[in-house]
Amino acid sequence: MGEKQIRLDEGVLDETPNNLSKSEKDNYNESSNHKLELLRKRILNELDCPLKVTTHNLVFGKGNPCAKIMFIGEAPGENEDLQGIPFVGAAGKQLDKLLSLIGLTLDDVYIANILKYRPPNNRDPTNEEIERHTPFLVEQIKIIKPRIVATLGNYSTKFVLANFNVEGMKKIGGISFLHGKHVEKEIDDLKFVVVPLYHPAAMLYKPSIRTDLETDFLGMKSIIEDKREEKKE
Ligand code: URA
Repeated sequence: MGEKQIRLDEGVLDETPNNLSKSEKDNYNESSNHKLELLRKRILNELDCPLKVTTHNLVFGKGNPCAKIMFIGEAPGENEDLQGIPFVGAAGKQLDKLLSLIGLTLDDVYIANILKYRPPNNRDPTNEEIERHTPFLVEQIKIIKPRIVATLGNYSTKFVLANFNVEGMKKIGGISFLHGKHVEKEIDDLKFVVVPLYHPAAMLYKPSIRTDLETDFLGMKSIIEDKREEKKE
């Protein structure tokens, strides 16, 4: 939309692969892809959850395996369950528009959910489900190694801000208070900035949320630009 395209794969945030030759970069991408595939198979075999009985597919994740921005949604909806891919329905269309507002496409980011299987009738995730599913999400984050973790809605925001601890989620405020406020976090040696965002589905039933989401996406773009400046210095 008249915005300059930000290509993360051309080094805006991507420090290590940028120093590598083309074949080393290909190996690096391939190794992330390989690790993600092993994790996907482990979820199929090891995740013990009643949701598996009522769903069609595991909804693992999609996007660039070396993305420097990772989005975390809540849980798959009906379309996602049928296709086995996150954010392919109405919320996904809104997310695509917001990405294009800041010059990004799905090829620049990676997207996964708190829950890997759809809860019946899109009900809210239970604490027990979050406990069972999120160890796999944490592994996914460690493979992707994002520099920015954008959390979509209350569940992913609370989980990440509670340091990936389900019990701690109840102490974290709601998204209407937290959205757009950037927080630095780390797991193991991986440091990243958390950008809490409203869930894009929220603007479908409350149109005023679109303005907040657009403002917060533009705020996220400013972190990308700051990191590019840091890299130049
Ligand atoms: N909403 C989510 O949180 N995740 C999806 O994959 C789709 C809709």
